[in-house]
Amino acid sequence: MLYALLKLLHVFGVLLWVGGMLFAHFFLRPSLAVLEPPQRLALMREVLQRFFAAVVVAVLAVLISGLGMLDMARRASAFVWPAAWLAMTAIGLLMMVIFGYIRLTLYRRFVTALDAGELAVAAAALARVRAWVGANLALGLFVVAVVLLA
Ligand code: HEM
Repeated sequence: MLYALLKLLHVFGVLLWVGGMLFAHFFLRPSLAVLEPPQRLALMREVLQRFFAAVVVAVLAVLISGLGMLDMARRASAFVWPAAWLAMTAIGLLMMVIFGYIRLTLYRRFVTALDAGELAVAAAALARVRAWVGANLALGLFVVAVVLLA
């Protein structure tokens, strides 16, 4: 029962994180063209601030539940890491490092430039956020495919 609850928490975290990236990448970003550049940047500042706060919670949920399930599996039997779990853990940790870079370096650079009125610098930082979110999205979809197909 505890294991099932941890897995539910894990999958909810993944849904929020990967689903949010999918929405931002394929639906929100292409729609920004209807706004003038200053409004685009202002909207993305608000959207990303809220989304990244939610991703912090999702990352904690994915990490704690994932480690909890690993620990329960390890105690239950002579545990040999399934290759798919190993890949999920390694790529999951990489995704978390990338998220940290996006949130703590790129997003801060974006906000600082916006506050200073340096729109070109802000747009360049946002383009890098977009590229790294795209990379994390690809990694997340790959992990889900590996775990469900293994
Ligand atoms: C440090 C990071 C992570 C750890 C330690 C971890 C660990 C685990 C463990 C132990 C399970 C249970 C597997 C089972 O009972 O069959 C699981 C399930 C799952 N994980 Fe992760 N995981 C991590 C990150 C991720 C990430 C980043 C994703 C996707 C982006 C992900 C997607 C899933 C999915 C979809 C399941 C459900 C699989 C199923 O029930 O068939 N995990 N994870």
